[in-house]
Amino acid sequence: MLKLENVSVRYGATEAVKNVSMEVKEGEFVTLIGANGAGKSTTLRAISGLEPVREGRILFEGEPIHNAAPQDIIRLGIAHCPEGRRVFPQLTVRENLEMGAFCRYDRQSVSADIEQKLEMFPRLAERERQAAGTLSGGEQQMLAIARSLMSRPRLVMFDEPSLGLAPNFVEQVFKLVSSICASGTTVLMVEQNAYAALDLCDRSYLLSTGEVMLSGTAEEMLNNPDVRRIYLGGEAATA
Ligand SMILES: Nc1ncnc2c1ncn2[C@@H]1O[C@H](COP(=O)(O)OP(=O)(O)O)[C@@H](O)[C@H]1O
Ligand SMILES: [Mg+2]
Repeated sequence: MLKLENVSVRYGATEAVKNVSMEVKEGEFVTLIGANGAGKSTTLRAISGLEPVREGRILFEGEPIHNAAPQDIIRLGIAHCPEGRRVFPQLTVRENLEMGAFCRYDRQSVSADIEQKLEMFPRLAERERQAAGTLSGGEQQMLAIARSLMSRPRLVMFDEPSLGLAPNFVEQVFKLVSSICASGTTVLMVEQNAYAALDLCDRSYLLSTGEVMLSGTAEEMLNNPDVRRIYLGGEAATA
């Protein structure tokens, strides 16, 4: 469904993503793991058309998208739930959901989708006329996730959706992302917590200083001695 072929992205002299090749197949739950600064967010931003691809190609359903504008990439069916939640704080919960559908022309189904999201997230329904900035961090993350689904994506990308959340919300967010995948939307999720990511996903790519160091099924990654030593805190973490 999504294919990156030898993709490189630069910020001035910094090569943030180097020669990255990866693939996400329809229906899969794939994670992108690695330390802070490894290039995970930059990879997602390149897929979304938010950073120019310096070298290589990005294909969605076989068509090149690496020169496409972000709004066209959304229309093709790729949604991006960015790092740090980024809801519009002055807008209400409902208006934030409307913004998620800005690229759609079917206004009637958009209204129906908003009602469906509010049913799915009762906490948001209770606060639908409240400014998003007044919500708790966990509620804002729920809203950001709900908003990303408003474009009716076939592939949705989540950038560290659990970051900075209270433990009960972390669990809720992971359950939610799993259920989104189970209901038929393909998922690519960035996560710094390798253990949590590998516990949830089908396959994973490990990025280190902009390069793919390792990839495989969640089980292969969990059993890899290097992954265990460096990212899972030794043998005990896999117990
Ligand atoms: N807008 C930017 N301008 C310059 N350098 C950046 C910018 N965004 C990220 N970087 C650098 O690119 C590298 C990869 O960053 P990022 O993709 O955010 O990593 P991750 O999401 O894995 O933490 C880091 O060295 C970071 O400092
Ligand atoms: Mg990041």
